Amino acid sequence: MAQATLNGQVGVVTGAGSTYGIGRSIVIAAAKSGAKVIYACDINSSCFPDLQNTVQASGSDTLVECRILDVSSEEQTLNLIQHILKTYGRLDFYFANAGIAMYRGLNDLSVSNFHRAMAVMQTGTFLALKYGSQAMSVTSSEKPNPKGNIVVTSSCATQGGGFADMAYTTAKNGCNGLVRSGAFQLSSSNIRVNAVAPGLTTTSLFATSRLAEEGVEYKLDKTAEQIQNEAAKIYRLFGLGGEDQTYYYNRSAAPEEIANVAIFLASDLASAINGQIIIADSGKSVAASGDTFTGPVPPVNPVML
Ligand SMILES: NC(=O)c1ccc[n+]([C@@H]2O[C@H](COP(=O)([O-])OP(=O)(O)OC[C@H]3O[C@@H](n4cnc5c(N)ncnc54)[C@H](O)[C@@H]3O)[C@@H](O)[C@H]2O)c1
Repeated sequence: MAQATLNGQVGVVTGAGSTYGIGRSIVIAAAKSGAKVIYACDINSSCFPDLQNTVQASGSDTLVECRILDVSSEEQTLNLIQHILKTYGRLDFYFANAGIAMYRGLNDLSVSNFHRAMAVMQTGTFLALKYGSQAMSVTSSEKPNPKGNIVVTSSCATQGGGFADMAYTTAKNGCNGLVRSGAFQLSSSNIRVNAVAPGLTTTSLFATSRLAEEGVEYKLDKTAEQIQNEAAKIYRLFGLGGEDQTYYYNRSAAPEEIANVAIFLASDLASAINGQIIIADSGKSVAASGDTFTGPVPPVNPVML
């Protein structure tokens, strides 16, 4: 099969600062796919050195530049984009991945919680589309035509009301709107816009969200193993994840699996895909109420030989 490649490209990955997460995995996968320079951005700076070392130790030539960035800030986003263009003269990919997920029932959800979710996920995605696309339109002798790919991390929470709280569900549905509208608005600029919508994924999200919600630089340096164990413990409480699941849709994914989809969407292998939300939830949202109505679903019988 053809390989997804980002050969020689320069781009941004937001929400790339956690110990074990989708953004970090996208950086590692983009480096494996031949990216020239990746700006790994986050408000959690503690894991940046480890991310740079991991990419370097893999034998990759990719330069990983780490930056503190609050994705909800127009000023910071514009500064980053201008810096990249001044330094490298091009921008080819932008993974708008940063997010926060705090589960609060309606009684506990304040207006400021709600606004912060919109600022990080909707305004953050809007800024990626607005300034990312302008940067992708800059041409040079090295890049004679405008071209680029914007990949948003949405969520399976857009598929129903029971996956997350009201703020997160609304914020991620807004991201889906931005993807569809963005694909249309950028259709004469040779820039594709798509989203990957993960299901439950074993990442740092439970550990980072409360701190990241404050919107200022913080340090959280739990090990990947601690993060995996904590997330797995929470999922197990809800009968999810683990090797012993009867149904495929009840598994949780590793962040690398979501990164693979994101890299595919940003590569020319996905050249016919534009404005789409690719749900990567192992089938959880189509299983809906699971076997509640049907009773147990047995494994299919092997064909008789
Ligand atoms: N883990 C899941 O089950 C799951 C499911 C669906 C969607 N997602 C989405 O995946 C994306 C990545 O999350 P993850 O699960 O890898 O968790 P993660 O905690 O590993 O990564 C999220 C990162 O976003 C950063 N961040 C938060 N607010 C920010 C801001 N204002 N500016 C810059 N960075 C900020 C955090 O510091 C954190 O490092 C998020 O958008 C999340 O909503 C996760």
